[in-house]
Amino acid sequence: MRLVITKDYAQSARLTARHIAAAVKKKPEALLGFATGSTPIPAYAELVEMVKRGEADFTKAHTVNLDEYAGLPGSDPNSYRFFMDQHLFVPAGVNPANVTIPRGDAPDSHAELKRLREFSAAHRTDLQLLSIGVNGHIGFNEPADIFHDSYHLVALTQQTIQSNSRLFSSIAEVPTHAYTMGAGDIMRAHSIVFIATGDSKRQAMRAVLEDGPVTPEVQATILKFHPNCTLYLDAALVEGIAPGLFVQVEQAPKDA
Ligand code: F6R
Repeated sequence: MRLVITKDYAQSARLTARHIAAAVKKKPEALLGFATGSTPIPAYAELVEMVKRGEADFTKAHTVNLDEYAGLPGSDPNSYRFFMDQHLFVPAGVNPANVTIPRGDAPDSHAELKRLREFSAAHRTDLQLLSIGVNGHIGFNEPADIFHDSYHLVALTQQTIQSNSRLFSSIAEVPTHAYTMGAGDIMRAHSIVFIATGDSKRQAMRAVLEDGPVTPEVQATILKFHPNCTLYLDAALVEGIAPGLFVQVEQAPKDA
């Protein structure tokens, strides 16, 4: 793992955006894996600015998303499809025909999982963007006894429902289940770029970065096994964390 310590979250977002833009520049038709949630929003905003300045081009890129709330149609403002259209796909000019994302309102969840698993088996993601939940989840791979190989339907934990309720008008409206890519799909990506910030994520990041077990109880610990994973974390988040010997630590250039 390569850990790049940034001066702040804004710098993490800039460097994450540049990392993604560089991948598309190198391979314009790349398959990019995207995440939702609050954390990547400034990185997406930076990518949109890069597109406007002519520094990035997504018109040929293909995308796949980690997850989606079960039951929500893409037209629902709380759906991840809506989020992606709003923050990235539309303003960055991603071709809707090149987008793969779980259909939250699919009438038959088995058929939807079959479609997603077939996609995943046939396409290897070039660069997967990840962030992390308070409980160490990646995508919606919640703490469990196992690592799932591919897309599956998951029951969200009470902690995740509570944490995500901030975006809904009441906690009762938060879906209880979600479609998510499996840890296996995530690990098959050629490369991973990871961004996180905030004190609430420190405990999970400690499990990822320090010497210790790779355990499905903290799903993100599986990233210790990934051969090409870069993490952009601000100095405030890594305070008090002692990265293990398997982590290559760098300081981001101050002016980057
Ligand atoms: C969502 C996803 C999740 C989020 C995580 C953190 O696609 O991959 O793992 O990254 O729940 O969410 P925020 O950034 O809102 O704290």
